[in-house]
Amino acid sequence: MIHQTDVLVIGSGIAGLFYALRMADERQVVLVTKKETVESNTNYAQGGIASVFDENDSFELHIEDTIRAGAGLCKREVVETVVREGPALIRELIAWGVRFTERNGKLDLGREGGHTRHRIVHAQDLTGKEIESALVRHVRNHPNVRILENHVAVELITEHNLRRGHASLHEPVHCYGAYVLDTARSIVGTFLAPVTVLSTGGCGQVYLHTTNPAIATGDGIAMAYRAGARIANLEFIQFHPTTLYRSEDHEGDRAFLISEAVRGFGALLRTSSGERFMAQYDDRLELAPRDIVARAIDAELKRRGEECVYLDLTHLDSAEVRRFFPHITETCARYGIDITRDWIPVVPAAHYVCGGVMSDLEGRSSIEGLFVCGETAMTGLHGANRLASNSLLEALVFADRAARATLTMKPERIDSAEILPWDDSDTYNVREWVLISHNRKEIQTLMWDFVGIVRSTLRLERAKRRIDFLLQEIEDFYKRTRVSAKLIELRNLALVANLIVTCALHRKESRGLHYTTDYPRPDPHLDGKDTILSIFSPPINHVAV
Ligand code: FAD
Ligand code: SIN
Repeated sequence: MIHQTDVLVIGSGIAGLFYALRMADERQVVLVTKKETVESNTNYAQGGIASVFDENDSFELHIEDTIRAGAGLCKREVVETVVREGPALIRELIAWGVRFTERNGKLDLGREGGHTRHRIVHAQDLTGKEIESALVRHVRNHPNVRILENHVAVELITEHNLRRGHASLHEPVHCYGAYVLDTARSIVGTFLAPVTVLSTGGCGQVYLHTTNPAIATGDGIAMAYRAGARIANLEFIQFHPTTLYRSEDHEGDRAFLISEAVRGFGALLRTSSGERFMAQYDDRLELAPRDIVARAIDAELKRRGEECVYLDLTHLDSAEVRRFFPHITETCARYGIDITRDWIPVVPAAHYVCGGVMSDLEGRSSIEGLFVCGETAMTGLHGANRLASNSLLEALVFADRAARATLTMKPERIDSAEILPWDDSDTYNVREWVLISHNRKEIQTLMWDFVGIVRSTLRLERAKRRIDFLLQEIEDFYKRTRVSAKLIELRNLALVANLIVTCALHRKESRGLHYTTDYPRPDPHLDGKDTILSIFSPPINHVAV
């Protein structure tokens, strides 16, 4: 089945929805999303959006905090743009009905690690849900947007899928849309559009323990890489220091986050014997950037042979704690923890990918007609380490900029007769689901054990050998098998795991979120140097650091 539209948006988190709304008055938009519309990382965001609203704050301070956290890899122009354009877009969210928490008639601004000022705009501890539901409401009501739930993008359509083929490897690649699986009907449709937007979020599910929901399997990064887009900096995986210990048993595929805003509110980290330990690691104590806090916790756990550390809120005003963190209070209570009286057991978990599909300041990827925004993108904002609550901000700013850039383009549609239809002849249905679930777990365990918070060349090489093998096995299986959502995700997880390890092996230094015991310090020669991967740059699988 062939669908034609002006703009194809893949993903319904803050980036995809905001972009779709921006375009809807001018263009016909089809938005495909792999589960129900609200299911996204956005929906689980707790802390808030970092932005300058306080009279004691300034754009310069927010810019400096972002650049300091980014450890020599942030692009100043990008940081300045995002910080300066943020407040107007947040006001727009408010105008669309997002209810942020206020105090004395002004936005109540929280504080998180690495920020020198209070600047986190939030809706109690359910900021993401508040934003997501307001955006979904508006997008659903717009006559020019068609939302298709339970539609999984499988592959981008480029010159490789034209009947006439690709003339030369040196010609620019164009994106003409995507092949998309309708999971309810098990049919792969051809969705054609002069502009495609990848807003598929992150890839936390590559790791065994993650705050990310099951949808976060790096599909956008994998599809873009296979299509020839430039990918960068995947070694910079952010581990959030504090997730509820053992919560995965109860929460399904994800660990329950205890927001950094809780530490911003005054919570303390302690070992099981009650000792505070952050002073040994950083002067900023509990409010050091999260790479430092996560590594400190990891070191304490290894040193003591213990399974978790604790967050202590018991000295804080209990009524205020309950008022500011109702969701965390309630969820912990379900596990028998009264956060105003008991310490909360916490461990780090994979949380955010700073790298992704490279984009320019307008969200354009290196493939013509393909824009990217949100967590899937590598814009240059975060560098080697994202400052807390800068991600929702980045998604808003880049969705807005990508939409403005799209509107300057002529919406010329491609002749559908030129595109090869999806071909699944000679494939059969999966007979043994255990192969898929076993491989998924194997990748997640490998990545957790060998490509985690602290790395070494030995462990990375070991991971690479195993993932190379798994990737090959999964590719062979994929070619013979009718596609399903689970198989698509497995293939993407294996590729993204491979790309993360490849990037990590190429970065022979420790910087920001990438810490390896073989090169424990930053190399000044690598200041400002991204790790870029692309299968089309000569030679094949070329890696430039
Ligand atoms: P997402 O919101 O993840 O949306 C991706 C969408 O793409 C989903 O709809 C998904 O179903 C869809 N999709 C994926 N693959 C496919 C496919 N193949 N086909 C079709 N659809 C697909 N950041 C902050 O700035 N502040 C915070 O307080 C904060 N808290 C967080 C708390 C948690 C628990 C988590 C997990 C993250 C948090 N983050 C926070 C990070 C932030 O939420 C995300 O980076 C951001 O929401 C990403 O938005 P997005 O639109 O790029 O992607
Ligand atoms: C949190 O609330 O701690 C998450 C904030 C973020 O990831 O930016």
